[in-house]
Amino acid sequence: MKKNSIPAGGSYGTRIADLYIVHNLAAVNGSSRHTYHAMPPVGWMNDPNGFNEAFGKYHLFYQFYPYGPSWDSMHWGHYTTQDFVKWKLEPTALAPDGQDDRDGCFSGCSVVKDGKLYLIYTSVMGDRQTQSLAVSSDGVSFEKLGVVISGEQLPKGCLKTDFRDPKVFKRGEDYYLLAGALSEKSEGMILLYRSRDLKKWEFAGTIRRDNLTTRGIYECPDFFELGGCDVMFASPQGYRTDDWRYENVQSSVYMLGKLDEKTGVFEKTYEDEIDGGFDFYAPQTMKTSDGRTVMIAWMQMWQRFIPTAKHGWAGAMILPRELSLKDGKLFQNPVREIERYRWNPVHFGNVIIGNRNELTKVNGTKIELCFTLDLGTAKRVGIKLYQGGEHDARIYYDRERDRVIFDRSRMGVEISHDPEEKDATVRSVKVSTEGNRLSMRIFLDVSSCEVFLNGGERTMTGNVYSDGSGVAFFAEGGSARIISLDKYDIVV
Ligand code: FRU
Repeated sequence: MKKNSIPAGGSYGTRIADLYIVHNLAAVNGSSRHTYHAMPPVGWMNDPNGFNEAFGKYHLFYQFYPYGPSWDSMHWGHYTTQDFVKWKLEPTALAPDGQDDRDGCFSGCSVVKDGKLYLIYTSVMGDRQTQSLAVSSDGVSFEKLGVVISGEQLPKGCLKTDFRDPKVFKRGEDYYLLAGALSEKSEGMILLYRSRDLKKWEFAGTIRRDNLTTRGIYECPDFFELGGCDVMFASPQGYRTDDWRYENVQSSVYMLGKLDEKTGVFEKTYEDEIDGGFDFYAPQTMKTSDGRTVMIAWMQMWQRFIPTAKHGWAGAMILPRELSLKDGKLFQNPVREIERYRWNPVHFGNVIIGNRNELTKVNGTKIELCFTLDLGTAKRVGIKLYQGGEHDARIYYDRERDRVIFDRSRMGVEISHDPEEKDATVRSVKVSTEGNRLSMRIFLDVSSCEVFLNGGERTMTGNVYSDGSGVAFFAEGGSARIISLDKYDIVV
């Protein structure tokens, strides 16, 4: 969207938002802006919504407050893309200007049906949360159709105040909808509803009900089939820390199993955290017409100080990831389209770390790094990123703890955080180091760092606000070796 190109159509609220956007685009300071990640044109972004393919392109909607870089009355912003890398800003899709959603159009999903794109979202009025429908026949402007699931359709003992984030999938002739809810006893719940036409819904069962969500509910549930297995996502508000898992104040979890959609019973066989970094929340998936399951997520976290706010924007999305199941676990890899944007390849083989820690032409802040380490005898071995002066962020293997650590404590900017969160500067994950080897694929984009370990076995996502662009390997307490390294500039 460019200045003087305010689209026709839309509602009163979306037109005001679009006017505001075009007149304020230039006021956003570009210094920390990403180049190949979706971020708000101005203002605030949180959860991805309605991620889908329709009208020959991929659509990403998102929780959006245009008028300032902090969370406020929620709109649905809209981007489209052909490749998950280049994002085209579209007119704002929903604004909180309807009779049922005056206090916010909260998170939800989209469904393509009979050549139309339907948005199913949480409509907020005062302290009441209901599920509403909107429709578009061109994928650009949306007409609200009103509430389709009200608080009256909650099972007994549920609060009408916390009932949100619908995600719809189809099985046979029927549509099913998952939503987060809260019981009167403060239990987090995931509810299931059934419909033939997206308009009339009936309650079908309770998928999950427990007291693990100590700060609220299971937000943003998602559901899909992958490799013959049912996969459910949820973003619990507060979740008990399990050794090195779930250290953020809100987490994202995946569950494998089998859902009986007739009863809502989900036989869970495995559960784990989706990403072991700092900034990853509310993931949502879509199926592409070429058969992939692609996930996107908010690359931020609640209750944190966000340094880019002073530049007029806050929040971004991860680089979308392709999901697969391997050895009964979820594997994540960046969308393959990113490889089309690789430039200036640099290759090194067999480098002893210690002799040459900084490699010629291996630096930058918009880059991809792929390397395999022979961990040798080093106590700690890894890489420093965004290095300059005293500042850096480090990703390394710590032999004593047998974990990979993401340490952003030296990045030069303090991230204040919720007192309940132990710290917002160090995260760790366990991965296999079979054969004393470890491989990493790392994407930097000005102020972000996404790490894929061992071909997607684990990932760590975090924002890094530093002024440096150096890259250096390091080994402490012994020797180690880079078996091979490839570096590319990512140019979009
Ligand atoms: C998750 C969330 C959702 C809600 C939305 C509001 O981050 O709290 O539960 O729909 O954000 O913006």
